[in-house]
Amino acid sequence: MQRTLVLLKPDCVQRALMGKIISRFEEKGLSIVAMKMLHVTPEMSREHYAEHVEKPFYPSLEEFITSAPVVAMAIDGLDVISVVRELLGATSGLKAAAGTIRGDFSGSRQMNLVHASDSPESATRELKIYFPEGACSYEQASK
Ligand code: CMP
Repeated sequence: MQRTLVLLKPDCVQRALMGKIISRFEEKGLSIVAMKMLHVTPEMSREHYAEHVEKPFYPSLEEFITSAPVVAMAIDGLDVISVVRELLGATSGLKAAAGTIRGDFSGSRQMNLVHASDSPESATRELKIYFPEGACSYEQASK
């Protein structure tokens, strides 16, 4: 069993696509074990996107991700990191295949609706940024 961090980005929240996209994860049989709406700060953005901070698109990415609330989720499932990335499709909505979330709903490289961790190491790191209190209510309850 794995856990991943999924972020519904500002474009997803503003376009009122949260329900549709959350349904894709639920219909696939994945378990949403924690969820919250929050505003990403510039500090959180730099920590989350540390590998992109020097890239030319970073200033615009930070402006976008801090522009309005996001929804952070911790999702559990077998092989969930690659399963979620398959459901999302290619990073750019311009290249993502029809039938994937980005392919069906995004026509943008930056405003691609959803972020998901790309490895177990990224998932551990990113879950700590968005759920510093711990990602799972079951874990909290059993402490
Ligand atoms: P995400 O999966 O959150 O990881 C990094 C984000 O940077 C990516 O989704 C896009 O939102 C954004 N991104 C990646 N490449 C580009 C690009 N070439 N131009 C603008 N934004 C990009």
